[in-house]
Amino acid sequence: MTPVPRQRILSGIQPTNHITIGNYLGALKNWVALQDRFDCYFAVVDLHAIVTGRQGLTDNTYYALATYLAAGINPERCCLFAQSQVSQHAELAWLLNCYTYMGELQRMTQFKDKSSKAGRNIPAGLFNYPVLMAADILLYQANLVPVGEDQRQHLELTRTLAQRLNKTMAKPLFIVPDAYIPKVGARIMDLRNPKIKMSKSNPSPEGVLYLHDSKDSIAQKIRRATTDSDTEIRYDLEQKAGVSNLLAMQAAISGKAIADLEAGYQGQNYGRLKADCIEVVSAEVLQLQQRITALLADRPYLQSIMNKGAEQARAVAQKTLAAVNSAIGFVSPCADDKKDIS
Ligand code: TYM
Repeated sequence: MTPVPRQRILSGIQPTNHITIGNYLGALKNWVALQDRFDCYFAVVDLHAIVTGRQGLTDNTYYALATYLAAGINPERCCLFAQSQVSQHAELAWLLNCYTYMGELQRMTQFKDKSSKAGRNIPAGLFNYPVLMAADILLYQANLVPVGEDQRQHLELTRTLAQRLNKTMAKPLFIVPDAYIPKVGARIMDLRNPKIKMSKSNPSPEGVLYLHDSKDSIAQKIRRATTDSDTEIRYDLEQKAGVSNLLAMQAAISGKAIADLEAGYQGQNYGRLKADCIEVVSAEVLQLQQRITALLADRPYLQSIMNKGAEQARAVAQKTLAAVNSAIGFVSPCADDKKDIS
C-alpha cells in the first residue's frame, strides 16, 4: 500500500524582541503540539517585520528562531527558515498582488487598525501585508495554518486568492488552506484592558507579558491585572473578560480544561487566581528564557538551521512558483534557450 503523504502546515511569527505570551500561546505552543503529525514549515517572517521598522532586525531574527527551538520545535522534523532567504515569497506576493482587489485589502481590520496609528505616511507594505502572507502559505501548499484568532481574516483572504487563481488559470495551482485556531489561548487579552488583544503595540506595556519579562515584572503585571468588582471565578468573556483571560492563560499553559479550573476555584478569591497564574506563567516563561539564552550563545548552530531550512524551503517554493509562472504565461528562460540553439 502506498503511504498517504502527511498533511502540511505552515506558520510564522514576526521577529521582534517583544515576543508576547499571546504569540506563544496563540501560535507557537500549538506548532509544538502539531509537529509530530504534520509536515511542518515554520518561517521567521522578517519581510513582514520591516513594515514597521528594521531596528534590531538581525538580532531579532536569531531571537525568534531561538524561541521556536526553546519552545520545543524539533529542527530535525520541521523546516525552519528566514522568509527573506527564500526569494520566491516576494515573487509570488507580486503575482498575487495583481489578482487582489484594493477593496479586499481595505477591508482588513488589521490594516484599518494599524494604518490609523501610522500617521501621514502609511507604508504600502502595510496595505499589502496580507498578500505576502498569502504567498507564504500558498507556496508550500499548506493544508493547515496554525495561528491566533486575529489572523482569521487574513486566512480568509488567502483562501479567496487560492480559489481565484485556481479558477482563473483553470488549474489546481494551490491547495486551499484551513486556519487552525486553538480552542484555548487563541486570543490572549491585554491585562490592563481585557477588551483588547494583548499586543506589543498596545498603549501601556503594563498590560503585555513578554517572553523576556523578569519574574518580578510578570508578578507585578498579573497582580495589577484588571478584573471586576464581583468575586466569582468564572469563564465569561462578556461579563468577566479579565478573569476569563487569567483562566485562559493558565489553561493554555497547563493543558487543564477551563471547566476543571473553574471547579477548583469555587469559594476562592481573585487573589488566589492571580497567585496561581503568576506561578504557572513565570515557571513557563523562565524555562523558555533559560533555553533561549543558551541557544543564542551559539549563532553558528542557529545559522546552520536557517541555511538548511532555506534550502529545503526554496525547493518546495520554486516548484509552486514555476507552475504559477507557467500558468500565467511567462516565457521560461530554459525553454527559450533551447529554441535559440535549434
Ligand atoms: P505576529 O508576529 O503578529 O503574530 C504571530 C502569531 O501570534 C498570534 N498572536 C496571538 N495569539 C493569541 N493571543 C494574542 N494576543 C496574540 N497576538 C498574536 C498571531 O495570531 C500569530 O499566529 N501575520 C502573522 C505572521 C505571518 C504568518 C504568515 C502567519 C506572516 N506570514 C503565514 C501564518 C502563516 C502575524 O500576525 O504575526
